[in-house]
Amino acid sequence: MLLGVNIDHIAVLREARKINDPNPVDALSICKIAGANQITIHLREDRRHIHDNDAKVICEQSSLPVNLECSINEDIIDIVCKLKPARATLVPENRAEVTTEGGLDVKGNFEKLQKVIKKLHDEEIEVSLFIDPKEEIIELASKLNVKWIELHTGTFANVYAMLNSGLSTTHHTIKELELPRKELKNKLKKSIKEIKTACKVAKKNKLKVAAGHGLNYQNVKEISSIKNISELNIGQSIIARSVFTGLEKAIIDMKELI
Ligand code: PXP
Repeated sequence: MLLGVNIDHIAVLREARKINDPNPVDALSICKIAGANQITIHLREDRRHIHDNDAKVICEQSSLPVNLECSINEDIIDIVCKLKPARATLVPENRAEVTTEGGLDVKGNFEKLQKVIKKLHDEEIEVSLFIDPKEEIIELASKLNVKWIELHTGTFANVYAMLNSGLSTTHHTIKELELPRKELKNKLKKSIKEIKTACKVAKKNKLKVAAGHGLNYQNVKEISSIKNISELNIGQSIIARSVFTGLEKAIIDMKELI
């Protein structure tokens, strides 16, 4: 199982003070030493954490492949084409959200995606689509000539957290938190089944499968044990643990689990 470490959260801490410390670039060598397989960053349209210069220096200096998450906005895609990361993961973006809240609307953006993907391929950038684990979306994604999809595990992670600690990883209504345990268990089973089915459909269509969002030290084994998932992209939980253990140990702990 390959691990992409999402280092945006280091820039989140920096932006809390709007200074130059901590610098996400300093994480590159630690990620490599700890056994990470990829550096993942998200250049958001609002530049709320990673800035253009971070992305430039990270793409230039990382000895690990860089997976650059980005929206399909034309200005952003132009920047990505210049940065030439190993991979671009296309994600939906909504300015009001705290973090990415779901997968791409592949159907609604099909033609735009075709153009964007061609543009990235022309620059020899591999493309991945961040999508919800739904059969029909995987089938549609397979028509877009991409090598990778990344399955959104947010729904699974939220239900897992509600069931195991009474907490949700993102914002939930009190009503959802009050669901009976039996109902939560069924929801969890359903979310895992959806991910497994999505993997089968991906395999049939020769797509490589990554997964990410909300994965942590408690829930990750449920996902890493699913056949056909070959990479996980994890940010929040690793960087959160690193505050207490250091980044190297936080990555080693995650690598051991997956
Ligand atoms: N994969 C994608 C496409 C994402 O947008 C994010 C969040 O930036 C992650 C993985 C990592 O999610 P988390 O920070 O919850 O581990």
